Amino acid sequence: MPLKEITLAEINPTAFIDAKVRELAETVGDGAAVNALSGGVDSNTVTMLGHRALGARLKSYFIDNGFMREGEPDRVVAFFNARGVPVEKVDAREEFFAALRGKADPEEKRQAISEAFYKRVFGRLVARSGARFLLQGTILTDVEETVAGIKRQHNILAQLGIDTQAAYGYKVLEPLVELRKPAVRAVCKALGLPREMYNRPPFPGPALAARVIGEATPERIALVRIATRIVEEELEGTDTFQCLAILHEDQVTGIRDGKREFGRQIEVRCWDSEDTVTAAPTELPFATLKRLAERITREVPGVVSVTYNIASKPPSTVEAV
Ligand code: XMP
Repeated sequence: MPLKEITLAEINPTAFIDAKVRELAETVGDGAAVNALSGGVDSNTVTMLGHRALGARLKSYFIDNGFMREGEPDRVVAFFNARGVPVEKVDAREEFFAALRGKADPEEKRQAISEAFYKRVFGRLVARSGARFLLQGTILTDVEETVAGIKRQHNILAQLGIDTQAAYGYKVLEPLVELRKPAVRAVCKALGLPREMYNRPPFPGPALAARVIGEATPERIALVRIATRIVEEELEGTDTFQCLAILHEDQVTGIRDGKREFGRQIEVRCWDSEDTVTAAPTELPFATLKRLAERITREVPGVVSVTYNIASKPPSTVEAV
């Protein structure tokens, strides 16, 4: 049955929270649930909903897949622990890099990440904790793009015909699946989370692996991680929906210190969007673009070329992979 959207205009965040808390408590009963927290608005919202509904019967895990931004795993865990929501960090970096070894095709990479998450890492955590449910922050846009065959979002399972109970040994609960980003932000705010949490720019589940074209090796992820930090630092305070850096696979001829350098290319993308269904490039001042190029070529080893994406979605998509 197609999902019916609850729009920002329609939603009453407090009533929505009450209904979902009741529903989660009834579904999980006196059992336990495992929660997938990545630090984004959607998963932060689900974590708080689950915590209200289940208290100590909710086990929240932050999976460090090796593709996160600088310092992100510890920052997210500390934020929730400080609010009385216990979160355990799981170091699964080697497992994810092994799953991506030799894979350059975008959909193959997404499939490998999805399997590493759900079959292996969460399969183990659920079995260990005796939980029967996995709680996660899938939203309507994730479902639509995946079902339409545009891009397999890492968190789409049942909607692709995957019986998670049979395949992984647990049921998946998705309390936000009727919402898009603006309505999720309203719920997140009503749950009492601070502005920097409900206003966070989106960040994809496959994280920096979605921002490396070609194989996502630890070395290549490390390069795009530096570029990401620079882009986020330079564009902080800019009125934009989401901005990112992408490491390209093709190399180009550059020159450094008077010598030829066959170097790497970074693409910067910065989007204006309401709900990620459509997006347009932010009209950044040229001086900002030049500053980005100067810093990226100076601070990211081996980068000799920086480009800015000026196409809209569609036909572009927000991430490159
Ligand atoms: P695209 O690249 O499909 O992105 O235009 C639309 C929005 O979704 C985010 N994104 C993802 N989020 N899992 C997620 O949870 C994913 O696999 C995924 N892929 C893209 C992207 O950052 C943008 O906000």
